[in-house]
Amino acid sequence: MAVYITHNKEETVALGRRLAAYLTPGSVIAFTGGLGAGKTAFCSGIAQGLGCIDEATSPTFAIVNVYRGPQVFAHFDMYRINSLEDLYTTGFYDYMDSGAVVAAEWSENIAEFLDEPFIKVDIAHVDENTRRITIIGIDALQ
Ligand SMILES: Nc1ncnc2c1ncn2[C@@H]1O[C@H](COP(=O)(O)OP(=O)(O)O)[C@@H](O)[C@H]1O
Ligand SMILES: [Mg+2]
Repeated sequence: MAVYITHNKEETVALGRRLAAYLTPGSVIAFTGGLGAGKTAFCSGIAQGLGCIDEATSPTFAIVNVYRGPQVFAHFDMYRINSLEDLYTTGFYDYMDSGAVVAAEWSENIAEFLDEPFIKVDIAHVDENTRRITIIGIDALQ
């Protein structure tokens, strides 16, 4: 487990970039933390770190955004996903099997359907600009 404090969005993006170095095809990153915590900011750092040519944006409306690059990155928003059937329909498992790196915002909703191992990232809102980011599944980021 590793815990980090960030003081602005850019620091959270930078942490996502650092995490990307640990990701391999089929890696799953499960995010928790409420609205405005910084999950999408962290994912945009992952996309940058993976070398994606597309910029990450919130997948709230599309449910999944897929970013192209040397390592494909499938970025999900599970806010409206509540059942295993829903989850299958999003293509979540297909993206995993195809070798994409897969991230899920609102992973609370699919926790019971996730198989270990996966990386957990919880982002706690401390104050307006401060976030406490807990990463489980990696000892410490280089
Ligand atoms: N330390 C921080 N890390 C990330 N975002 C921050 C931070 N401080 C303030 N913010 C702001 O919080 C919001 C986070 O938005 P977003 O990444 O879309 O959150 P989420 O996807 O969790 O809903 C942005 O408006 C961002 O500017
Ligand atoms: Mg978001």
